[in-house]
Amino acid sequence: MIYGNIEGIRESELARLECLYDFETEPDCFAPREMLEMMAAFTSMIGREVSVYISRSGEVLDVSIGNQNSVGLRNIRLRRSANRLSKVRCIHTHPNGDAHLSDVDLSSLKSMYFDSMASVGVMDGHITGVQASFLTLTADGDLGVVLTKVVEAHAIPQRAWMDHIEETDRSSLIPSHSSSTQDEREHAVLVSIEDEQSIEELAALAETAGALVVGKIIQKKSRPDTATFIGHGKADELSLFAQAREADLIIFDDELSGVQQRNLEQILSGARVIDRTALILDIFAQRARSLEGKLQVEMAQLVYQLPRLTGHGIALSRLGGGIGTRGPGETQLEMDRRRIRKRLSALQSEIDRLGDQRRLRRGKRERNQMKTVALVGYTNAGKTTLLNRLSGESSFAENMLFATLDPLVRTVRFPDGSDSFLLIDTVGFISKLPHALVEAFHSTLEETLTADLLLIVSDGSSPQLHEQYNVVMDVLHSLDADGKPLLHVLNKTDLSSNPDENAFPEAVRISAVTGEGLETLLSQIRKKLREATKQITVTLPYNQAQGEAWIHRNCHVLEESYTDTGYTLIVEADDAMLGHLYHQFDRDCISVGENV
Ligand code: GTP
Repeated sequence: MIYGNIEGIRESELARLECLYDFETEPDCFAPREMLEMMAAFTSMIGREVSVYISRSGEVLDVSIGNQNSVGLRNIRLRRSANRLSKVRCIHTHPNGDAHLSDVDLSSLKSMYFDSMASVGVMDGHITGVQASFLTLTADGDLGVVLTKVVEAHAIPQRAWMDHIEETDRSSLIPSHSSSTQDEREHAVLVSIEDEQSIEELAALAETAGALVVGKIIQKKSRPDTATFIGHGKADELSLFAQAREADLIIFDDELSGVQQRNLEQILSGARVIDRTALILDIFAQRARSLEGKLQVEMAQLVYQLPRLTGHGIALSRLGGGIGTRGPGETQLEMDRRRIRKRLSALQSEIDRLGDQRRLRRGKRERNQMKTVALVGYTNAGKTTLLNRLSGESSFAENMLFATLDPLVRTVRFPDGSDSFLLIDTVGFISKLPHALVEAFHSTLEETLTADLLLIVSDGSSPQLHEQYNVVMDVLHSLDADGKPLLHVLNKTDLSSNPDENAFPEAVRISAVTGEGLETLLSQIRKKLREATKQITVTLPYNQAQGEAWIHRNCHVLEESYTDTGYTLIVEADDAMLGHLYHQFDRDCISVGENV
């Protein structure tokens, strides 16, 4: 099998190229001359680079075709340990005739821990020279490279170059201050077709997931390319960029189709390709604490993976943890699809069951007449900090995206001690929130939908205040919750003020950290809650003692009196409670009065 950019190459030529796999190299031979000549002939014929990967035992593991000037690193299972050679050497041609190794070649040598990286200059079917490179430790303790002179093909010191590899392998290659020993994080390159802001947010997400961002590429494009998301030329450029930065992971700022992902993985061979959705799902998977949260995330991940389990099964191999290995056969693929579907329906029933329990708890709360206020906002707006501040308790608030996944409920008492309400913290929103996640979290988000009041918390210090606010309102709209009573809150007033904040004149300005504005906020909350509550007079004949007991159990009674006609109770009720009252009693018994 010939890998890499084989587009436009005839089957017969590929079959001839496969002959490269037949070469068996003796242990003291670095590269047989006949093999190099064959590589040179093909290179001239197709005008592209040919790379051959040879194991220490002399077996040709992989042959691939790259674009000019790029090294097509295949996903061969390299032993990519931080301090040992991979026992694989890469020999590749340069179709421009220059035998010198490029910077990209050398960075591949370092990142893949190849035994050696060698280049073969080719011009008109002839070898212009060969240069090899080996890893070494410098006097400063850094990972360095030893370059040989460019030699002619017949003059390669075969034995000496193999000795060099053996010698390097005997010494440990642990750099004393290399990034690989200091920083075990995955190195990620980010790619967007939007703007700086979007990629900055992607960077924050990547860091939250534990990656180290080593580069960013933006290609302004109105529509993504159906095959490779970014343009083909840009994808080749990205391949070089990622190699030069020793990236293991390429993260795209939008959802990729299965086809785009596979094509990109071909071009960016050696690096893993994921999209924003997978990244967010990954963060959620790490963060979920409660059983319900974990099930919801698992469900969202499976829904995301299901349509991607097509073709070569690359996505499936990732699912099984075999990143960089080839996918299993179609039968296995089908089996796994079935298994996923089965698991999805089991997850759905479990989530429904937990949702029922939650509704039961909420029913009790409603009957207890506790008003509920839900905190809604963009991730990192300060919702949890505000919840802690108002309730006087401490929950996990971190300068990280999605610190809160499971809804937190706390009781908040008004300063005069007269009354209290329940404050609910929910998952933060973010732009391009994966649809599968919104679906899976629907039952959690129900907490928000059924609250009496929504506090829309925004980070007033963010330059993206407007964009973030719009995302929150869009998600609420998609949940049919934008018609609920709302109160806008601009948080973080202690930080530099944002010119945009003037655009929200009706918002309550607060700092959840310093406590500024919280009194105003609480009085606004009380006002809003009261707006939604009316005084209802219920008059019951004396033979309805049970009805009176029901009202005492379920409603907040303001006044009660006994008249000639029966009991008269004045109660506080919102629309939901009014519905219950109409359900319980005759309409003639009920008269709706003013707001409380
Ligand atoms: P998610 O869980 O992602 O939805 O975040 P969140 O909205 O709950 O935000 P959280 O309360 O975790 O706060 C995010 C960061 O902002 C933390 O580092 C807080 O300390 C900080 N923060 C919150 N409120 C304020 C504030 O009023 N002023 C300042 N300076 N920082 C704040």
